[in-house]
Amino acid sequence: RYSPSSGLRIFSSTAIGPTFPQFLLASASTCTSAQRFSTTSKYSSENIISSPLPEITNKFPQLKNYSQLYDFSLRESDQFWGTLGSELLQWNEPFTTVSRHDHKSSTFRWFHDGKLNAAVNCVDRHAAEHPDRVALIWERDEPGHEQRVTYRELQEMVWRVAGVLTESGVSAGDRVAIYLPVSPVAVATMLGCARIGAVHSVVFAGFSAQALASRIQDAGASVLVTANSSTRGGRLIPLQATARAAVALCPGVRQVFVMPHSPQPLELADNEVDLERAMSAVQTAPPPSVQGAEDPLFLLYTSGSTGKPKGLVHTTAGYLLYAALTHRLVFDYKPGDVFGCVADIGWITGHSYVVYGPLLNGGTTVLFESTPVHPDAGRYWETVERLRITQFYGAPTAIRLLLRFGDDFVKKYDRSSLRVLGSVGEPINSEAWRWYYDVVGDGRCTVVDTWWQSETGGIMIHMTVPQRRGSGTVLCCAVLSDSQGKPVYDSGATGALCVSSIWPGIARTIHGDHQRYHDTYFAPYAGLYFSGDGARRDDEGYLHITGRMDDVINVSGHRLGTAEVEDVMMEHPEVSETAVVGCPHALKGETIFAFLVLKENSASPQHKIETELRESVKHNIASYAVPEFMLIAPALPKTRSGKIMRRLLRQIAKGNLEDLGDTSTLADPAAVETVLKLYRQMP
Ligand code: PRX
Repeated sequence: RYSPSSGLRIFSSTAIGPTFPQFLLASASTCTSAQRFSTTSKYSSENIISSPLPEITNKFPQLKNYSQLYDFSLRESDQFWGTLGSELLQWNEPFTTVSRHDHKSSTFRWFHDGKLNAAVNCVDRHAAEHPDRVALIWERDEPGHEQRVTYRELQEMVWRVAGVLTESGVSAGDRVAIYLPVSPVAVATMLGCARIGAVHSVVFAGFSAQALASRIQDAGASVLVTANSSTRGGRLIPLQATARAAVALCPGVRQVFVMPHSPQPLELADNEVDLERAMSAVQTAPPPSVQGAEDPLFLLYTSGSTGKPKGLVHTTAGYLLYAALTHRLVFDYKPGDVFGCVADIGWITGHSYVVYGPLLNGGTTVLFESTPVHPDAGRYWETVERLRITQFYGAPTAIRLLLRFGDDFVKKYDRSSLRVLGSVGEPINSEAWRWYYDVVGDGRCTVVDTWWQSETGGIMIHMTVPQRRGSGTVLCCAVLSDSQGKPVYDSGATGALCVSSIWPGIARTIHGDHQRYHDTYFAPYAGLYFSGDGARRDDEGYLHITGRMDDVINVSGHRLGTAEVEDVMMEHPEVSETAVVGCPHALKGETIFAFLVLKENSASPQHKIETELRESVKHNIASYAVPEFMLIAPALPKTRSGKIMRRLLRQIAKGNLEDLGDTSTLADPAAVETVLKLYRQMP
């Protein structure tokens, strides 16, 4: 039985092999992957994979094992991806070129002269083959009210949404903003856009009006699709009101479609249309738009290290192929499975493993609208029992929360349908991993920790362990790079987590700012994709993610740029300086600590300012971005060149008061003494 040595157990390319791009933590560049495999005798690929990807190995019969396949995927990348691209996707016009990359300008193209339609690939081809198979199971907020949608029904919904959008003047290339709860209509709207070649931009329905507005504006969306309200954990969320406040800031939005999601009658303003009614009125389905492989499929905003969220652009064929393949392989997906990813569709996990991956594979996917503790801490496992879920994919933050409620909430439900338990979004600590494995999985299921990002489109590194019932998981290739961009394979090496080759699922650009794309991901390490994460390779060749190397923090699996929070707080008329850092939190993984300096003339009581700041962050971003701790000081520690010493503030926020490291470059050592004193006085 595998015993995790640390909280972060991610396999390196060493231990899991093939997928695709090659990951590295760089330094000693001469080691071949075969050598790397040989260093991991205990967890060799042969141990891990019981049935190595029949779909793939059938195509490459000359390859005898996982490490050979892995090497092949790197050495003969075009043959590897070209074969899979033809196999897994349905094309209107086949591609003749697999990849065409220009590394100098960071322009990457896959299958670029092929033509296809994403919605046809997700729905129509399956509806033709097995119309009555369940595509979606909508697990509503209240347990026991699930709704099943077959492929035939989903196809009709997609056609109808596509019809509504076309009639309202949306055409290929136009952006459509989606602000909806996890629901069949949300999936149908994403795919309705795809059917007509429009680009969807789903905004998490927990974001504030301001955050929604800035994403609508950046995307240049002229249409917004929302619902009157939603319920989560028994709480009514007034989506329409938030959407209205956002649209008031967006003169470019000409039409808002409102789905009647909760029973109250719809109240519509002049620019609002009842989506359900409009869908019923559609007479003919618009034909699927034949899209180029590299046409954008969707935009998804994510935090970076500056204040402005980045609109990542994912294109069609490469993204679809990568989502389909990783879903199939990492989760050992088989026909008849019920795939339960509990992420919200507003995040990349929801895009790739609630919607695109499972539907591309003709699977049955669960749309989970509720919370892990509604009505009680047994909700996930009760859902598993009722829906007979075979793969459960969730976030460590929820696992940490649930384990505190004890084992009974798990054990009273039948979990025998489960085969694979996935984890995503943040490091899974040892205690949570053990509980997931021992209690939830009864020591019987494969626990797979998956590392990836909004930018990667799909899972890049996955860790599985040899179990009695090993699943057919495989995949991925990563690299660890030193500061010079050289791969490092030595045990104990630390470095930047990079990818050394271009894989089909990578986001192609940042909407409207290709320079930022190049500067963020490709400029730091020549020839490598830089993830922003650091990692360490252990003695057995496993990669351990050590966290972000930039000013991005991870609160309950939500990625947040500290600069976003600072920008909002700086708007307060009495604040002159802020520095926001992350600090460890038992449940959330990380939480937010804000250091502040007030203006000389500030006269309001501090608690009033703090309350206003919290409100303002909630109003401008979302509840999860609200700082948990605030410390108002007369000055912040700065270097002689005037830069705030964030490293020092991070140590203080963690409570590491004794070991602050080198403080010799401080301009004013008294500033740090005062901050320390105030910290000690905090309740
Ligand atoms: O820091 C890594 C962390 O989440 C970041 C990506 O966040 P996002 O784009 O929102 O996508 C989250 C879901 C794919 C990464 O840069 N992260 C993601 N998965 C893991 C992780 N950190 C540790 N272990 C993981 N398994």
